[in-house]
Amino acid sequence: MSERLKKMIRVDHAGEYGAARIYAGQLAILGRGPHGDTLRHMKAQEQHHLDTFSKLIATRRVRPTALLPLWHAAGFALGAVTAALGPRAAMACTVAVEETIDAHYAAQEAELGEDEAELKSTIAQFRAEELEHRDIGLANEAELTRGYKLLTTIIKAGCRVAIKVSEEI
Ligand SMILES: [Fe+2]
Ligand SMILES: [Fe+2]
Repeated sequence: MSERLKKMIRVDHAGEYGAARIYAGQLAILGRGPHGDTLRHMKAQEQHHLDTFSKLIATRRVRPTALLPLWHAAGFALGAVTAALGPRAAMACTVAVEETIDAHYAAQEAELGEDEAELKSTIAQFRAEELEHRDIGLANEAELTRGYKLLTTIIKAGCRVAIKVSEEI
């Protein structure tokens, strides 16, 4: 398997790991409120994404990123801090993260050839669910968050850095 493919699986595993932690952080703050079930729905889908890439990491013998402990803490913190700012800020976080992942998965879909048709279709399916999450965020007044533009710009920049370093490290 090519080094490039290993990097793709490594970063996707890291991203889904981080995503599950973001929703865990949001649930710790908002789990009992009116958004609890929505957050649990998204968390369950992230867990499925993560389980799928965990299997791929094992079966394809890809080294996971060494940064998992960092994403464990940073993902939860991002979710909890935005949730503490309020449900709209939590949803703004979701929009920022999921839009970044959408672009990331779209690039991978374009890059993968028919020799990796199964992985390609897995990514396409997950990307559709990330877009569902983004739409949930938008439907739950993400854009009405105070400082929406700044908040999402910062989170997106952080996600792109996380993607970059998780491919390599
Ligand atoms: Fe995901
Ligand atoms: Fe997602």
